[in-house]
Amino acid sequence: MRVYVGLLLLCSFLVEADEHDHIYEVDEEVVLWMNTVGPYSNRQETYTYFSLPFCKGDKQSIGHYHETIGESLLGVELEFSGLDIKFRTNTPKTIYCKRVLSETDYKTLLYAIQNSYYYQMYLDDMPIWGMIGEVDSTVKPPAYKLYTHKRLDLGYNDKQVIDVNLTSDGRVEIKPGLEIEFSYEVIWSQSEVPFADRFDKYLDPSFFQHRIHWFSIFNSFMMVVFLVGLVWMILVRTLRKDYARYQKDDSLDDLDADLGDEYGWKQVHGDVFRPPTMPLLFSSCIGAGYHVFTVAVITILLAIVGEFYTERGSLLSAAIFVYAACSPINGYAGGSMYARFGGRHWIRQMLLGAFLLPSLVCGVAFLINFIAIYYHASRAIPFTIMLAVTAICLFVILPLTLVGTVLGRNMAGHADYPCRVNAVPRPIPDKKWFVQPWLITLMGGVLPFGSIFIEMYFIFTSFWAYKIYYVYGFMLLVTLILAVVTVCVTIVCSYFLLNAEDYRWRWTSFTAGASTAIYVYLYSIYYFFFKTKMFGMFQTVFYFGYMGIFSAALGLMTGTIGYVGTAKFVRKIYNTVKID
Ligand SMILES: *[C@@H]1O[C@H](CO)[C@@H](O)[C@H](O)[C@H]1NC(C)=O
Repeated sequence: MRVYVGLLLLCSFLVEADEHDHIYEVDEEVVLWMNTVGPYSNRQETYTYFSLPFCKGDKQSIGHYHETIGESLLGVELEFSGLDIKFRTNTPKTIYCKRVLSETDYKTLLYAIQNSYYYQMYLDDMPIWGMIGEVDSTVKPPAYKLYTHKRLDLGYNDKQVIDVNLTSDGRVEIKPGLEIEFSYEVIWSQSEVPFADRFDKYLDPSFFQHRIHWFSIFNSFMMVVFLVGLVWMILVRTLRKDYARYQKDDSLDDLDADLGDEYGWKQVHGDVFRPPTMPLLFSSCIGAGYHVFTVAVITILLAIVGEFYTERGSLLSAAIFVYAACSPINGYAGGSMYARFGGRHWIRQMLLGAFLLPSLVCGVAFLINFIAIYYHASRAIPFTIMLAVTAICLFVILPLTLVGTVLGRNMAGHADYPCRVNAVPRPIPDKKWFVQPWLITLMGGVLPFGSIFIEMYFIFTSFWAYKIYYVYGFMLLVTLILAVVTVCVTIVCSYFLLNAEDYRWRWTSFTAGASTAIYVYLYSIYYFFFKTKMFGMFQTVFYFGYMGIFSAALGLMTGTIGYVGTAKFVRKIYNTVKID
């Protein structure tokens, strides 16, 4: 019940259980939680520990409740191991339970060992991993052996647990009908490591701070400098030339001008501020894009300040909280833009903007949930959590978006463009193949993708493999670089488009920015086939579903960044040119 209240108050990630003060007296109980089992080739496919034929110790059970929404969304499924562990007191090798393998148990275990299943446990919030068994291929036919003994080497510093090492032993070849004895052993030793540093051993600096990573950041940074310089030069020089030409045209007879001496972007001044086709969808995308960008930056900043990796699911909880709290930004940006376009269905726009991303996420999550339930995976999201998420959408995100929309419509809903919009749209002239909007869209994503794809490798690897991502400073830098590159590229793209007298720059600048996401998704397909060892329906759907959500959110974000930068640019150039 406490979970519920916590969720609805949206401060669930602040809830702390008593077990979590991390202070123990000598002989005090230390709880070992069994979490999940799953194939080593995919960290995200997990089942509850006791779905395999293991057994519990005879100590009284302690129920565990999910404390955070993030935890349960991540499929954390803690169950008490029943093992008796006392702080700073060694336990000699003890058999804690026995189990006779039935035919089905045997088959399940065999499958798990063949597919290199591992299990995960938590002790005082520290994760512990161990393999289930091993295949002995020195004999023919290969022998499938199960580890039956767990040796826990625990380190303490004063009253706190610092370190956990698990050694698996007691190999037993599995056979149907065999009685298996599971045993454990606990050995405490003093450690000098301060409590604050106890998670350092899980971090992998040689991976994340590899030269390649620094190099890629440096590379992207140089690209930004170069690109900004290039854009600046092209635009300043070309625009100066354009202005000079337009001035000359103005000083000639009006007749000459009418005969068609003028060409280029000035020609579309009567259409350039025309609302885009599908203004409702467009403003909703922009609103959602602003939202995603704000949430991304704030969450990364939070992650830099707080060490979220020490607490299960807390980053996800924080992100959900920030997302809900930032909803007014979505309403403000989308609502004011829709008002400037003269749209009437503002409620529809608000609903679309508010639920564009959440409904996509829920749709994909629903599908994956369906499959997860079918496979009995621990990924299946509990019904109560689904209700809680729906409640957050309806009772937090929606009202906050409404507030933003009303504010936006009233404060920024008035259009004041430098040029009047003609009543009749100008026909778009035939143009060369290389200034077609679809081609510009496709080309627009290449450079921004180039600036982030090494970071994508690190992010994917930490999500799909066994690395804890902790270099959020890098991530922030890369996000900012991505924003600058996107703005530069879309400005150049839109300049070409307008110069070809095509005034549909709004959608084009958005899609040109958003196309980065297409490349990221393509890259994720490459990553799936060449960098992971995933297989099977569940893993495939899970991978491509979540990668799709990630790419979509990224696309909304980069599209919005591209559009906003371009909009500033367009306003600037049409402000300075004298329009009769
Ligand atoms: C755990 O293993 C690491 C690395 O081998 C070692 O440095 C540490 O002292 C061990 N901790 C305990 C409590 O045995």
